[in-house]
Amino acid sequence: MYSYTEACRFFGDMFPEDLARRYGTPLYVYNEAILRERMREMKSILKDDSFTVNYSIKTNSNLSILKIALDEGLSADAMSPGEIHVLLEAGFPSEKIFYVANNVSEDEMRYAIDRNVMISLDSVSQIERFGKINPGGRCAIRLNPGIGAGHHAKVVTAGKKTKFAVADIDIDTAIETANRFALRIVGVNQHIGSHFMDSKKFLEALSNFLSLAEQFEKLEFVDFGGGFGIPYKKLSGEERFDIEEFSGKLTVMVREWKKKYGRNVVFKSEPGRYIAAESGIILGRVQTIKHNYSDKYIGTDVGMNVLIRPSMYNSWHDIEVYRNNTPILDGDVEEVTVVGNICETGDILAARRLLPQIEEGDLICVLDTGAYGYSMASSYNNRLRPAEVMIGMDGKERLIRRRETLSDLMTLFP
Ligand code: LLP
Repeated sequence: MYSYTEACRFFGDMFPEDLARRYGTPLYVYNEAILRERMREMKSILKDDSFTVNYSIKTNSNLSILKIALDEGLSADAMSPGEIHVLLEAGFPSEKIFYVANNVSEDEMRYAIDRNVMISLDSVSQIERFGKINPGGRCAIRLNPGIGAGHHAKVVTAGKKTKFAVADIDIDTAIETANRFALRIVGVNQHIGSHFMDSKKFLEALSNFLSLAEQFEKLEFVDFGGGFGIPYKKLSGEERFDIEEFSGKLTVMVREWKKKYGRNVVFKSEPGRYIAAESGIILGRVQTIKHNYSDKYIGTDVGMNVLIRPSMYNSWHDIEVYRNNTPILDGDVEEVTVVGNICETGDILAARRLLPQIEEGDLICVLDTGAYGYSMASSYNNRLRPAEVMIGMDGKERLIRRRETLSDLMTLFP
C-alpha cells in the first residue's frame, strides 16, 4: 500500500490535521498544481492551433477554479443562466462561454441572447422557440451520434436511451425549422457521456458525429464534448486514460475531416471530470465506530450531502486514513462500511471496503472528489455545506469558499 496524497505532496507544505482543525471537517481541499497540469493536458489532446478547451463548470464551479481556468486560456461551457452568471463574474468574456441548453424556457434563452452567449439547441422544439424570439440569430445544434458511453446509465448522454440531442433522423426537420426563422447554424456539438477510460466508443461516436456535421454547410465550430475518465482506483494501480494514443487518433480524424469539409472550423471539447476530479479530496473525521450484526460501520462526517456520487451511482472513491498527520499504511486490513451522518441507510461512502484498522478521531481522505463533489453537495438534513481550501503553487493553503453557517440556512425565507 502507498499513500497517493503523500506521493504527490497533495497538501503541499501543510498537514491534513492542521487543515482539519483550522477549517473544520468535512473539508474540500484542492491542489492548484494538479489542476493546472490537467488543464494543460487537455489542451494538448488535439494538435490543431485553433483547438479550444471549454471547462465544464458543472463539474466544479468554485470561483477560484474558474479563474485558474481563465488564466490557463480555457473557455467554458454552461448548462444554465446560473452557470453563465458565475462565469461572467469570474471574468470569462461572453464569447468564451457556450451555453449547452436542454429543455429551457424563453426567458433562459433570452438571458443568453442578451449577453451574446452562443447557445446550443437540442431539439426541434427548442430550435423553433429560439427562432421565434431571435429570428436571424446564430446558434449551434447538439447532435446525437448514436453511440454513448459512461460509468453509469444515468450519465450516458447519447444513443437511443437519452433525452439529449437531435437524432440523425430528425436533422432534416431541424434544418428546415432553423431555415424558417433564418437561423444561422454555425456550430454543432455532441457529448456522449461521462467517464470512459477507453477511447474506442468515443472515436466511433466522433466518426458518426463528423459525418452528420457534413450536412451543415456553414459551420464555424465543432464541439466534440467531454467525458474523459480518471483512475478512481489509483491505490490499486488503475491505469490512466491514454491521452497520447487518443490524441494521435483524434488528430488524424479531425485533420481528414477538415480537409474534406473545406472551411476553417474551430474544434472544441468540454472536459470537466478529467480536469477537476483528481485535484480535489475531502477530509472527514471518524466520529463513531460500531458493529451492527455482521457489519462494522465507520461513522464519519462525510455524508451524502457532501459527496453524493457513491449513493447515487455506486461510485468508488479511494479512501486513505490519516492519524496525527501520518497515513496508516501498515498492519492488518479489515472489511468495513464507511458511512456518513445523514438520516438514510443509503448514506454509504464505501460498502464493505478493505481498509486499515481505523480509530475514532482519525481523518479519512476521500480521493478524486474535485469533480461532481461540491457541485452536487446539498444542505439535506439542514447540514451545512463544507468549506473549500486550495493548496496554491506556493504550497500554502487559502480558503476559497467558507463553510455555510446556521444563519445561511435562514436566508431564503421571506
Ligand atoms: N458537456 C456536457 C454537455 C455535459 O453534459 C457534461 C457532463 C460535460 C460536458 C462534462 O463531462 P465530463 O468531462 O465531466 O465527463 N454527476 C455525474 C456526471 C454527470 C455528467 C454530466 N454532464 C458524476 O458524478 O459522475
